[in-house]
Amino acid sequence: MEKKQALQCVVLFVCISASWIRVESLGNGLGLTPQMGWNSWNHFGCNINEKLIRQTADALVSSGLANVGYKYINIDDCWANYNRDKWGNLHGNDATFPSGIKALADYVHSKGLKFGIYSSAGTRTCSGRMPGSLGYEKQDAKTFASWGVDYLKYDNCNTDGSAEKQRFPVMTQALRASGRNIFYSMCEWGYQEPAKWGAEVGNSWRTTTDIKDTWSSMLFNIDINDGYAKYARPGGWNDPDMLEVGNGGMSYNEYVAHFSLWAISKAPLIIGCDVINLNKEAHSILANKEVIAINQDSLGVQANKVKKYGDLEVWAGPLSGGRKVVLLLNRGNQGTKLITFNWADVGIPPNSAATLRDVWLHYTYKKTIRHKLTVKVAPHSCRLFVLQPV
Ligand code: GLA
Repeated sequence: MEKKQALQCVVLFVCISASWIRVESLGNGLGLTPQMGWNSWNHFGCNINEKLIRQTADALVSSGLANVGYKYINIDDCWANYNRDKWGNLHGNDATFPSGIKALADYVHSKGLKFGIYSSAGTRTCSGRMPGSLGYEKQDAKTFASWGVDYLKYDNCNTDGSAEKQRFPVMTQALRASGRNIFYSMCEWGYQEPAKWGAEVGNSWRTTTDIKDTWSSMLFNIDINDGYAKYARPGGWNDPDMLEVGNGGMSYNEYVAHFSLWAISKAPLIIGCDVINLNKEAHSILANKEVIAINQDSLGVQANKVKKYGDLEVWAGPLSGGRKVVLLLNRGNQGTKLITFNWADVGIPPNSAATLRDVWLHYTYKKTIRHKLTVKVAPHSCRLFVLQPV
């Protein structure tokens, strides 16, 4: 073999192994794109029961949201009896989930959806109303598997004080040994910077404290999450917490910015509102297929903040097919502002022409553009574009 050919082989081998490592760190084959679904916590808290979960599964399908990718129905805290039974097993709460969790999982599956559940790496969950899985990891993982659970959100309350880095992998092993392939969503709130070690442990990891349904909380979380952008990859995602779209605390433009920031950050798109009574505006945001496609893009690279002048920001990242996603954000609350970005800011060669698609207006501009772009952005709003260099 000639020297040049040999070198090409080595380069190819290194590239293939690097991409393999990037794709399959945890190795359960799940979460190759960020997970999409619904979770009970942000809207309902502990006020949940089996009827609500069934109706939510129905609504996810009838609203068309399942069709655009939202597949998981996840129950959060407060689903179990206060205590384990005498064999140490968890059971669905007798009053609120009288048919049992297996029956509920079966119902969710019968709708073509997947079913998720919640526990904590502590002796009790965060509500204190049910046991956590610390010391019962294997037993609980087996129980979850026997019920047909597809997804576990694992929280960090009432711990024994040991390090998250030690406690969370115990559940990784337990899930592996459970006999079912279960998506593992770690929720240790960024305490031990799980972005730096989570890829081998779980499929996603919270980077932040709990989101609130406000503009400032949403931005607070996405800014922290942005600091870990380089660690996201297919199979393991940064999680700035669940969506608040539809819960009523933010304006339409603010929710569009919230959803756009989550989408480009390759964040899990877990709906946190009441989808049984979903209003039209929230539906139009959550069901925007073009924005979802950015989130679910096969390249799996998290966009990040590339420029900031005061309240005005440019966020950008690569998409498959040589495209770029660019988000222009006006965080301020006074007046529409002009935001400019140069091709170099977003990784396009300076002299390339590019087509420009506004994914909220669903409009492709007639003329191609070169060098830079200046766009008006209203207060507490964003504009979101996909650029295709031509
Ligand atoms: C923690 C988590 C939340 C939710 C609650 C439930 O605060 O971060 O997402 O699961 O517990 O009690």
